[in-house]
Amino acid sequence: MTQAVPVVEGRAIVQDYQVPGSLFTGAKSVRALNGIDFRVEKGKTLAIVGESGSGKSTLARIIALIDAPTGGELRIEGDVVDIRKRRPGPDLRSRVQMVFQNPYGSLNPRQKVGDVLMEPLVINTSVAAAERRDRAEAMLKRVGLQPEHFNRYPHMFSGGQRQRIAIARALMLNPSLLVLDEPVSALDLSVQAQVLNLLADLQDEFHLTYVFVSHDLSVVRYIADEVMVISKGVAVEQGSREAVFANPQHPYTRSLFAATPVTDVAAIRVRIERRTAARAAAR
Ligand SMILES: Nc1ncnc2c1ncn2[C@@H]1O[C@H](COP(=O)(O)OP(=O)(O)OP(=O)(O)O)[C@@H](O)[C@H]1O
Ligand SMILES: [Mg+2]
Repeated sequence: MTQAVPVVEGRAIVQDYQVPGSLFTGAKSVRALNGIDFRVEKGKTLAIVGESGSGKSTLARIIALIDAPTGGELRIEGDVVDIRKRRPGPDLRSRVQMVFQNPYGSLNPRQKVGDVLMEPLVINTSVAAAERRDRAEAMLKRVGLQPEHFNRYPHMFSGGQRQRIAIARALMLNPSLLVLDEPVSALDLSVQAQVLNLLADLQDEFHLTYVFVSHDLSVVRYIADEVMVISKGVAVEQGSREAVFANPQHPYTRSLFAATPVTDVAAIRVRIERRTAARAAAR
């Protein structure tokens, strides 16, 4: 049997940043990622965990095709991304979308929600105006908002609703891969659980693949199929969620787990049980 092509695959990914040096040394280069390998199969979630400054967002931006890496190879659904290009072609870009931590900052305050959702269609497709509106309204409904929200501005929504809008926008071009950088960290716990549940439902419905950056191990335990632990730009541990949580191998992972006890959010736990039961029943 031939193995399925992973939705995203990275080999030996390196990222250097130029930072100002001292008066005597001039600008110098800092290696933020040093040879990262990974692959994520269709419909799965890779969680990227690590301390602040370990390189999580740097890797997320590369996978989301926002930043080009200094070195290495990246493939999206088997297609090699030409890392020398500042921006990959529109075909590749529409297959990968990113959701950021801060729903306040990632939405244009002067744009109505309907326009926020329709914009990717305007820029990347020739879909007619009426159809754009239908699709945006359907997506708004799908993420738990109302059709009458179409003409409102982002500031009229709560943090959780704004993150729903950002997720809806990310889905407008039917991407294969969503890169989510701390998408629930800025939200209250109960709202976090709702948004995580929504992401889980959308993943099942649209067969989405997720790369999910988080520093919160209870969130990781909920969403991840695979876990990558990074420290100082190096992947120090990679494996299935079960293996990494049950038996962390690397001293860094053990210290990370010891420093941040996994506090179960009741609402999330209920949902995990529901989802696990539903999956067992479907088999
Ligand atoms: N644009 C940049 N220019 C220079 N250095 C950068 C830049 N972006 C990130 N870095 C550096 O690269 C390293 C990794 O940063 P990154 O933002 O990827 O970490 P992170 O794991 O996402 O941290 P956090 O949990 O705080 O979000 C850090 O040392 C950071 O200072
Ligand atoms: Mg970050």
